[in-house]
Amino acid sequence: MILVVGGAGYIGSHLVKELVEKKQVIVLDNLSTGHRYLVDERAVFIQGDLGNRADLDAIFEKYPIKAVMHFAANSLVGESVVDPLKYYQNNVAATLTLLETMLKYNVKNFIFSSTAATYGIPNVELITEDYSTNPINPYGRSKLMVEQILADFASAYGLNYVALRYFNAAGAHESAEIGEDHNPETHLIPIVLQHLLGQRDKISVFGTDYDTPDGTCIRDYIHVTDLARAHILALEALLDGKKKTAIYNLGNGLGYSVKEVIETCEKVTGRKAVIEYTDRRPGDPARLVASSQKIYEELGWKAEYSLEEIIASAWKWHSRNAK
Ligand code: UFG
Repeated sequence: MILVVGGAGYIGSHLVKELVEKKQVIVLDNLSTGHRYLVDERAVFIQGDLGNRADLDAIFEKYPIKAVMHFAANSLVGESVVDPLKYYQNNVAATLTLLETMLKYNVKNFIFSSTAATYGIPNVELITEDYSTNPINPYGRSKLMVEQILADFASAYGLNYVALRYFNAAGAHESAEIGEDHNPETHLIPIVLQHLLGQRDKISVFGTDYDTPDGTCIRDYIHVTDLARAHILALEALLDGKKKTAIYNLGNGLGYSVKEVIETCEKVTGRKAVIEYTDRRPGDPARLVASSQKIYEELGWKAEYSLEEIIASAWKWHSRNAK
């Protein structure tokens, strides 16, 4: 059985929907930001907290867990700057309790959701995994700290792990049964689509003076189902003994500016956006685009969805769920 911590969240729930086709899945989620309705009904759902030893003991004593996949984290850069305690508590300290419990029950396979925010402000076209890590906010630091803990645990205790550094996750499951449901929403694509559905008056573009061709920030958007498939390949590589430890970027390798994303949303939906140009949002690097060559070479994964397909899947989900 596979324990998916944070399996009621946006990315975790998409992984669970793919994984239940192959494995028995237990989801642990405290529902602080996740939603019960996102969890596939073929998975066992347990409401509880990864920082709570009693919740964890109950699961590890009852079920023969072979691997843990850890998606449960706070992930808002701006919030992490004003409330770092929350980020170090939930993302680092609680993860230590989870890892300690795994060791106690001799569970040695771990898949970790990391982030492009570990790189800080990189100065390259395509970021490879060996590029220096220099996060510029507590969120990125909390994820990098866990990566460092994992490396130490691998040497000292024989923990096997894969850390996956996501670039910009977007899109929704092709069934349109699950999708991105954050409250508050801060991400670009859902915000643009909510606006085009009439749920917001306008869109703000944060900064037009970046050192990029059109002056707006460039990101690498990756479909959430592509992310889910990468997790399953990483899990299989650990379970088969093909990999002991690895760090992989997950992106498309293509950069799109904020303006290009908005234009693609207009094209996909056939609707016109009202745009307001405002100051930069603190902490935004000008360009973040992944090289995903390493995971392609080692596990055979590459992203399949284009930006248009990502937006089309998100549009289908948002339209269906428009309040
Ligand atoms: N943006 C706008 N207007 C909005 C929302 C976003 O212009 O209303 C811009 C942002 O300034 C940024 C781009 O759109 O330039 C993408 O912003 P998102 O908030 O969608 O995503 P981020 O790139 O800020 O964040 C993502 C993940 C984080 C992770 C980060 C790594 O969501 O968890 O990448 O840098 F930390």
